Amino acid sequence: MGAGGIATVAYDIAVARGFEVAGFLADNPARHGSTFRSGTVLGGFDLLPELQKHGLAQAVVAFGNCAARLKFASLVRSLGFEMPNLVHPSAVVAPDVELGPGAILMPGAIVNAGAKVGANVIMNTACSVDHDCRVAEGAHIAPGVRISGRVTIGRATWVGVGSVVLEDVNIGANALIGAGSLVLKDIPDGVVAYGSPAKVVRPNARLPLSVERFGDTVIVDGKLCMENGVIPGVDFAQLRADTQAAGETIWATLPDWDPLGRSAEEACPYCYPDVA
Ligand SMILES: CC(C)(COP(=O)(O)OP(=O)(O)OC[C@H]1O[C@@H](n2cnc3c(N)ncnc32)[C@H](O)[C@@H]1OP(=O)(O)O)[C@@H](O)C(=O)NCCC(=O)NCCS
Repeated sequence: MGAGGIATVAYDIAVARGFEVAGFLADNPARHGSTFRSGTVLGGFDLLPELQKHGLAQAVVAFGNCAARLKFASLVRSLGFEMPNLVHPSAVVAPDVELGPGAILMPGAIVNAGAKVGANVIMNTACSVDHDCRVAEGAHIAPGVRISGRVTIGRATWVGVGSVVLEDVNIGANALIGAGSLVLKDIPDGVVAYGSPAKVVRPNARLPLSVERFGDTVIVDGKLCMENGVIPGVDFAQLRADTQAAGETIWATLPDWDPLGRSAEEACPYCYPDVA
């Protein structure tokens, strides 16, 4: 899933690892039917159930935005697809490293002994994550990042290209560390921080991190979501404003798609804000 920069490299890794790539899926209808790498953009994400009927069993969520990647990963999982790891042959992964499903390790990435890497993490080109680190699901460690031992990186956090993180530092969830930062001290959840030394500069817009579906029930970020069409305690207008301020397109693309085949009116207003 995806047909941008991450998918470009993910495709090479998949081929190098002997996967047969059926094709690509992209949001933008203008790209449907076009050639991407040596394959075709088959259609939008709504094609997944159809592809499954034709025997497709595995899907890789290959785009950079952390919150969007987690959101689509949970949908892919709820449809019953397996998410394989894509580990480039030149990546170095210590034998005891735990890799969650759907993790993508780009060329030259190094993950050292005792590290745990969550589901749908992207370890980008030539980054290194040292011993006993904990990288939570959906994080993106950008190219050339150096992470020292025993560091924790929170869920859906982006560590910008070329940053350096000192040992024992904890970086929270949904944070964004700007390019070339030197992180000496802990960084809380939900902030943008950058510089040398890295300082918190502003909040990171709050984005939904996961959507899971169990029958008619929808769970958003671990909270029960679909209860007569409302999510208790969630301010949709604020969420939407935050999302748009962050330049996200999730809100614009999700309303057309419900993999369980429900009408928009039946579905969750958090996922389908246009009907909220
Ligand atoms: C941090 C980031 C998200 C931008 O944040 P922002 O708050 O929107 O920053 P702006 O672009 O509005 O810039 C605001 C100021 O911060 C500075 N700034 C922005 N990013 C910076 C960084 N990484 N380090 C130091 N200063 C930075 C700008 O120079 C600007 O300074 P000025 O006001 O003196 O001109 C972005 O610069 C960044 O680093 N993104 C990560 C990119 C990346 O990792 N790419 C990898 C692709 S795989």
